[in-house]
Amino acid sequence: MVSLERCHNIADLRRRARARLPAPMFHYIDGGADDEWSLRNNTSAFDDYLLQPTYLRDVSEIDLSTRVLGQDLALPFFLAPTGMSRLFHHHKELGAARAAERFGTIYSLSTLATTSLEEISATTSGPKMFQIYILRDRELTREFVQRCKQAGYQALCLTVDTPLAGNRERDHVHGMTMPPRITPANFLSYASSFHWLYHLIRDPDFRLANVAHRVDALGKGAMGLIEYVNGQFDRTVCWDDVGWLAQQWDGPLVIKGMTSADDARRALDAGATAAMLSNHGGRQLDGVPAPVDCIAPIRDAVGDRLELIVDGGIRRGTHILKALALGADACSIGRPYLYGLAAAGQAGVERALEILELELARDMALLGCASIADLDAGYVKHRSER
Ligand code: FNR
Repeated sequence: MVSLERCHNIADLRRRARARLPAPMFHYIDGGADDEWSLRNNTSAFDDYLLQPTYLRDVSEIDLSTRVLGQDLALPFFLAPTGMSRLFHHHKELGAARAAERFGTIYSLSTLATTSLEEISATTSGPKMFQIYILRDRELTREFVQRCKQAGYQALCLTVDTPLAGNRERDHVHGMTMPPRITPANFLSYASSFHWLYHLIRDPDFRLANVAHRVDALGKGAMGLIEYVNGQFDRTVCWDDVGWLAQQWDGPLVIKGMTSADDARRALDAGATAAMLSNHGGRQLDGVPAPVDCIAPIRDAVGDRLELIVDGGIRRGTHILKALALGADACSIGRPYLYGLAAAGQAGVERALEILELELARDMALLGCASIADLDAGYVKHRSER
């Protein structure tokens, strides 16, 4: 197995994660919806943009800092919300949040996390965002908003691309369940993941900590958990509900999961601070545009009135560079840090952040741009442009 020091890029971390995790967990992270076209296209779409360096500029000091959602960040990228981190490593969301804090960037906690929002805020002091859904149980949604205010979260992120879960066939093929269930068919895969199995036995707590009180109250037990969560997705949610949420929260609000200029305009009207251009990492509707292709048209539509965060397919510093030069204010990453978490817990998440930070700083110098604030469309062109 590749050691962490020998993980030179995100692909190496992915290989290490694959070697350490039972197959159901690895494919839950790695997979996408249907034929996984969007999953592949999210990364390959970056290849349609060329970087245009300018030379003989002073690039002795590279400044990667930026400001988004009212927060000063040391890096122009942060950790996207991802559910159920305990499936991947016993350091779970806390390990990821601590890594983000060390790198001076935002940790986003999913509603479907295995660590409560209060535990994250009690143990880390970095900038934090809570990812919320407008649930069928509006009282629970309102309760989340209040809990976030009390726990000192700086931003709220409403995910809108999940009226129901996407069709992730790898989960069926590999027998992914929450909580994990060892069956004769997947026994060998679990048995060969010694480290993971050891911690499963020591700490088998896979509760969805933010909603556990509701599940417990219903007396449904662990197996009823996913049933409960699926029952909470509300297909009637529309823009009026977003306005309601914005009023409840009255702070920086991100709408996550859009790829069209019309939706970005509506987000602005509903009171959002930022749009997260995202297709859920290719895990929801297959065949939707890559987020990187949406930056320029959406920036044209909303000007500077809305911050734009881009998420999906980012695996290299050059991807971040291209997104920012095209007009994004920041990027967020999902799988890159989850591979790190699965590979080595908090240290693995730190390695993922370090790899992207080093790549980005080197790429900035090679591009001839010393500061994130100076990146603009002059540094990037579509390959169809002459
Ligand atoms: C996600 N994502 C996600 N998004 C969200 O709003 N709430 C969630 O609970 C989750 N859970 C989740 C689990 C896993 C395993 C993955 C891989 C992703 C989507 C996530 O926030 C982000 O949009 C994508 O991961 C970005 O794409 P990349 O960086 O993974 O290519």
